[in-house]
Amino acid sequence: MIDPFGRHITYLRVSVTDRCDFRCVYCMPEHMDFLPRAELLTLEEMERLCGAFIARGVERLRITGGEPLVRRDAMRLIERLGARIGSGLQELTLTTNGSQLARFARGLADAGVRRINVSLDTLDPDKFRRITRRGELSKVLAGIDAAQDAGLKVKINMVALKDLNRTEIPAMLEWAHGRDMDLTLIETMPLGDIDGDRMGQYLPLSLVRADLMRTYILEESDHRSGGPARYVRVAETGGRLGFITPLTHNFCESCNRVRITCTGMLYMCLGQNDAADLRAPLRASADDIGLHAAIDEAIARKPRGHDFIIDRRQTKPALRRPMSLTGG
Ligand code: 5AD
Ligand code: SF4
Repeated sequence: MIDPFGRHITYLRVSVTDRCDFRCVYCMPEHMDFLPRAELLTLEEMERLCGAFIARGVERLRITGGEPLVRRDAMRLIERLGARIGSGLQELTLTTNGSQLARFARGLADAGVRRINVSLDTLDPDKFRRITRRGELSKVLAGIDAAQDAGLKVKINMVALKDLNRTEIPAMLEWAHGRDMDLTLIETMPLGDIDGDRMGQYLPLSLVRADLMRTYILEESDHRSGGPARYVRVAETGGRLGFITPLTHNFCESCNRVRITCTGMLYMCLGQNDAADLRAPLRASADDIGLHAAIDEAIARKPRGHDFIIDRRQTKPALRRPMSLTGG
């Protein structure tokens, strides 16, 4: 699959549920309306859909949500997709909030998953509860232990928030690198309605980088993990630090990814509203001819990039669709 700008689409992110056991302040309102379960693709439909993308050239799959591990049959999908590693599919990864990892880490490793991203914005239990509105830090930390014990390579994703965790970034860096985990910092994106003022929490990573350079030597690195992060190596810790800067710096030129929601909508760009319904062709016929045609037609209109703008007075999100629908 090659889009109109010559980018090879080899990376698919699949949201298996919009549900989550947390309500992170930058992601969801306190009282979130989730989709009725009947709207979701079945596990079999998700597997068929992923199979069609693998047949069309997708090499890397990332399972996301919501929180993917709160869907009851998520592990079964992961096992079935894991069985395809080596025949077209090269890598299967997962993005999780870690709350269920203690239970599922071993099963993930057995299914063929080698790397996971765990979202964690603070190491302070009270602040963790404030940011997630209901999460328990100790469970996530136990989950990370279990993942490392099972041999999974863990990367920590931390959303940088001006008042909530800016001062904790060095401590997070020392902790992650001390445990042989990369740390990636993410700028908040204007996706979905939340209660309150998101741009008030917006922290440009250019400032964070300048903060860190007072204490650390950041060496340029050409390491790429296949996603949008740009990395430096921290000389003092020997670990890697990633920056995902959708707002301060355009990360679209080298975009190799598309996303499917848990209802089978294909989003060609995280930052645009255009989407293609793949559930209809999936359900219209037992063969995949119509599905393949719908995928090709959608890739042919993948946009050049997103139109997020930084507007500190902006009260409405740029897009009403939350990250939990399309996955981070
Ligand atoms: N902006 C930036 N990151 C977000 N995430 C969820 N919502 C947003 C947002 N609006 C992050 C999560 C997780 C990843 C999947 O996306 O914290 O790390
Ligand atoms: Fe759940 Fe992730 Fe959204 Fe937090 S950011 S509410 S963990 S989906």
